[in-house]
Amino acid sequence: MTDQTSNKMWGGRFAAGPDAIMEAINASIGFDKRMAAQDIAGSRAHAAMLAAQGIISDSDAEAIREGLLTILSEIEEGRFAFSTALEDIHMNVEARLKEVIGEPAGRLHTGRSRNDQVATDFKLWVRDQLDAFESGLIALIQALLGQAEAGADWVMPGFTHLQTAQPVTWGHHMMAYVEMFGRDLSRVRDARVRMNESPLGAAALAGTSFPIDRHMTADALGFDRPAANSLDAVSDRDFALEFLGAASICAMHLSRFAEELVIWSSAQFRFVALSDRFSTGSSIMPQKKNPDAAELIRAKVGRIFGANTALMMVMKGLPLTYSKDMQEDKEQVFDAADNLMLALAAMEGMVRDMTGNRENLAAAAGSGFSTATDLADWLVRVLGLPFRDAHHVTGSLVAMAEAKGCDLPDLTLEQMQSVHNDITQDVFGVLGVENSVNSRMSYGGTAPEQVRGQIARWKGLLG
Ligand code: ARG
Repeated sequence: MTDQTSNKMWGGRFAAGPDAIMEAINASIGFDKRMAAQDIAGSRAHAAMLAAQGIISDSDAEAIREGLLTILSEIEEGRFAFSTALEDIHMNVEARLKEVIGEPAGRLHTGRSRNDQVATDFKLWVRDQLDAFESGLIALIQALLGQAEAGADWVMPGFTHLQTAQPVTWGHHMMAYVEMFGRDLSRVRDARVRMNESPLGAAALAGTSFPIDRHMTADALGFDRPAANSLDAVSDRDFALEFLGAASICAMHLSRFAEELVIWSSAQFRFVALSDRFSTGSSIMPQKKNPDAAELIRAKVGRIFGANTALMMVMKGLPLTYSKDMQEDKEQVFDAADNLMLALAAMEGMVRDMTGNRENLAAAAGSGFSTATDLADWLVRVLGLPFRDAHHVTGSLVAMAEAKGCDLPDLTLEQMQSVHNDITQDVFGVLGVENSVNSRMSYGGTAPEQVRGQIARWKGLLG
């Protein structure tokens, strides 16, 4: 005799129901209910295939289909009573199906297991996130292209070690992020192609003796093909790891840009003004406008990369095939996905709204001896000095200007000639920042003409 409290789905061999603590550690319904729509889509595809293959009757398949649609609307309308005793989304839906349509519900799980079912549901969920990730990246890249176009020829300091290095253009700086987010985009697209194989029909681990058609369910669910090895199909979580890997790298990019916006919006820099819509005030200091959105974006990489690490640790050392450890795959991915999408949207909004301060950028571009390399290059080009000598002469001129508290173009010709006799008036032509950026016409360089070329290339790529 089976104990009344034992599980309806697999209670046959159990004499008693689970301890409350067992139920608490075992249940995943608290979070996997987020995959309800995917679970129902998978079940609909499976039931239709079972009928097409003559494994269940058409009338049972029709009852299952209608029952599943009813359940979907119950869930969407918040009328569905999720039960912890029923452990997960798969058993919650199936138990409810039994209540709604009766006996045919018991035929749905023919030739299927929760192992291939959960792998399918989770893949469909992650695939939707990859699609959202792609759209979020495209929107952000477009916002950056807008900024790059508006300020293709604005000059600003370029930094190494966060020390003024050489003048660059605002457009060039924006386009550097376009390249980064563009690589993220290509990672997302690659991952989507690679993950798009259906686990459904791998059953528990070994496949099934029922004459199922895995190509049919794969097609119905928008997969390119069924996964070719049933053992791998139920135990693979690479798709989630690739999502988290791509998300981590993107979050790192977002974090770097966010850090620049925090620095740039400070009173000491004033390179940009962030909009009120993406800033907050201080409860005590009335003058404050804080770049909170940028700071939070800067921080998101912590939890997203944390999720990546967590899932790697869950998966490492697991023998084939499914182990319950794998139930720990979802919460981290859900959290990472939510936060990534939020960070992408917030960054896009901030970029669209921000105003570069052209005057301050230009003033900063000219300070810090930023055209010293142009001077050295002039000594090489015009006077024929070896670059190392030119570097040395320029260094002495920088030291002289520093001692006098002025910039390089403020030195007189006589002062320059005291360091190197052959220097002529012509040198002043290369000490301006505009000249400096305009001269950097090498492919991928900072000259506005190059930047405009890259903007056009990206617009073409995005279509
Ligand atoms: N809730 C489970 C999970 O998220 C579903 C699969 C359960 N499979 C099993 N053999 N117990 O992984």
